Amino acid sequence: MAKGVILVTGAAGFIGSHTTEQLLAAGYRVVGVDNFRTGRRENLRHVAARPEFVLREADVAEPGVLAGIAGEFPSEAVIHLAALVSVPESIADPQLNFRLNLGATHAVAEAARRHRIPRIVFASSAAVYGDGAEAARSEPDLGSPPISPYGAAKLASESLLFGHAAAYGLAVRCQRFFNVYGPRQDPASPYSGVISIFAREYAAGRPPTIHGDGGQTRDFVSVHDVARANLLAATRPGLVSGVANICTGRATSLQRLAEIFAGHYPEVGAPRHAAARPGDIRHSLGDPSRGRDELGFTAQWAIERGLRELIHLPHDPPH
Ligand code: UD1
Repeated sequence: MAKGVILVTGAAGFIGSHTTEQLLAAGYRVVGVDNFRTGRRENLRHVAARPEFVLREADVAEPGVLAGIAGEFPSEAVIHLAALVSVPESIADPQLNFRLNLGATHAVAEAARRHRIPRIVFASSAAVYGDGAEAARSEPDLGSPPISPYGAAKLASESLLFGHAAAYGLAVRCQRFFNVYGPRQDPASPYSGVISIFAREYAAGRPPTIHGDGGQTRDFVSVHDVARANLLAATRPGLVSGVANICTGRATSLQRLAEIFAGHYPEVGAPRHAAARPGDIRHSLGDPSRGRDELGFTAQWAIERGLRELIHLPHDPPH
């Protein structure tokens, strides 16, 4: 007997497809919504035929669209992952960022209010934190304001959701994802996640390019851990509203990433170095303690294991 229904916006995306798989594996029914702007049908090929999975092709930023779907499928939670995912694109087109990142969140909040969905899980981001801190970021301390329209829309979305939570008695879980990597991440743009780019380059026998000296660090979190954090946030009994970093608490430098890859590809030459990217953040690290205390979430994929998986992937098509 299947458990209740969970709505997943952006279900055909990188994080959405992994989240959908974990929900189905845990016995939930999933109604996935995606407009395939950046999501891909092939990401759902493992689940498309399952009777517990329904896919609706729709734009959740369009007012009333998600509410219509929520009216059809009484749901116990909505996991809102549909978004404009590129920081540079948000800078190039702030109006689109506003519509897809803040407008869509409002439409999700309204769908939950109108159809009494008791819980919303929201894909927030480490981009809500401004620049400049060396220490691990903890949730109450935003530091300087966001430095992109993308980060600003994510932070504004958190506020908007908390307003609905307080006024209408919903539980809202804002998940501040750090640098997510893993199978199905698209390396197409030069601003794609660095791990997806390095994986493609090494697999093609080409040395990667490190911007700057390689001493910059990130908190890289596997998409498998992120999907599990979404499952926990959507289904853990008794959760109250809150915001938590979804991260490992471990810093990995670009140099170290290249070393791990090089261990798997000894025939590929040393990385090339290019100028540091303008505006590049030197260090980004999350404090994972709130996720552990509130959600019961601890990342289980160390970077070495996550890269090994990516390198030995048998089943994902080449990009
Ligand atoms: C994130 C965003 C990026 C945004 C930036 C600033 C993602 C995937 N990226 O970047 O769009 O502009 O925040 O808010 O969310 N790097 C290389 N070689 C490469 C690619 C990247 O050395 O081929 C370096 C970058 O310069 C950076 C590090 O790798 O120092 C990580 O890059 P990236 O994966 O884009 O993540 P963020 O820098 O966190």
